Amino acid sequence: MNVYLDNSATSYPKPPKVEESIISAMRSYQGNAGRTTNTDGHELERQIYDTRLKVANFFGFKWIDHVIFTKNITESINLFLNGYLEPNDVVLYSGIEHNAVARPLEQLKANRNIVPVKINCNQHGQIDLVQLEHQLSKHPKLLVINHASNVSGDIQDLAAIGSLTKQYGVPLFVDAAQSGGVIDIDMQQLNIDVLGFTGHKSLLGPQGIGGLLISPTLAKCTKPLCYGGTGSLSEDLEQPDLMPDKFESGTSNVLGIMGLKAGLEFLESIDRREHLKTERKYILKLQEFLLGKEDVVIIGNPDVNYRTPVISFYTHHIDISDLAFKLSKDFGIVNRVGLHCAPLAHETYQSFPYGTIRLSTSFFTTEAEIDYVIVSLETLL
Ligand SMILES: Cc1ncc(COP(=O)(O)O)c(C=O)c1O
Repeated sequence: MNVYLDNSATSYPKPPKVEESIISAMRSYQGNAGRTTNTDGHELERQIYDTRLKVANFFGFKWIDHVIFTKNITESINLFLNGYLEPNDVVLYSGIEHNAVARPLEQLKANRNIVPVKINCNQHGQIDLVQLEHQLSKHPKLLVINHASNVSGDIQDLAAIGSLTKQYGVPLFVDAAQSGGVIDIDMQQLNIDVLGFTGHKSLLGPQGIGGLLISPTLAKCTKPLCYGGTGSLSEDLEQPDLMPDKFESGTSNVLGIMGLKAGLEFLESIDRREHLKTERKYILKLQEFLLGKEDVVIIGNPDVNYRTPVISFYTHHIDISDLAFKLSKDFGIVNRVGLHCAPLAHETYQSFPYGTIRLSTSFFTTEAEIDYVIVSLETLL
């Protein structure tokens, strides 16, 4: 049996319409969006616009032309942090950040003298709101925060965080890599100024497409990461200020965009909340089994309703790399072991430096697969 439980890394399988949409775009369209003067060129522009509109609606964001496509959220984060932060700026970040945030901050600290200030998280991955408010009162330039931990699945209380950042007038940048497509996010309601997403996880699109949703106020004071041809205002050697062209130089990843569009359409067609309940039921089943095993430590909030559908654990008496390898090789259970590109989070959960084994479900996971995982783990543990 092959069971894919590494959906936090990238989702598999994709809805069939995603593949169909990519292949059909590849076959049908002659030309380049915004460049070629033919019907296909215009049709491509329309498809890209439709996808921007879908993304904007999906995240409760009202500025369609401020949805920027990137190759993944790592690029979105680099784009925004590099373009927005200036020398000596103070930026707050949390104790559960992914390296996609931690490394650019470290780089900017060295190159531009920015001052990253870490706000601690508790054992359930929740940011310390008292410490956060204290730091916000000093008016830093930005708060960047991971919405859902890729290590434990723990979900931040964005409503509480967003009302604090609004109160102190500090822009809020949310890393929605793990939450987009799993948890409802309304940027306007939650006072989110900038949001990064990646298309290939729970948005069910292909790899190579991501994006950044940026408020007009912040877009104005953010420099592009990449300069070049946009198909607009070509007589001018300066990068246009026009959105989204300002941040989208070069030919668009049309195939990625078409795949993302089909992924979003699939998500629109299902009852996501109901499905999340089902996946959490599976995670709870795994959790109850693991809790019955002596020496197994599960990290994060014990209540699965406060986590994305993920379970992350380690044992003291068995080498987890060995266990992960056997799960994969002997039982065909695809999992992820180690630090998950998030050493800061593992420090918070006291699972550094060895990390955990992470199992993460998707819309396509079945109960029979979970039962098989339990039987397999029983053998190995
Ligand atoms: C919380 C978080 N942020 C950022 C990323 C980076 O995503 P990508 O590799 O698609 O840029 C990941 C990937 O696992 C993640 O979990």
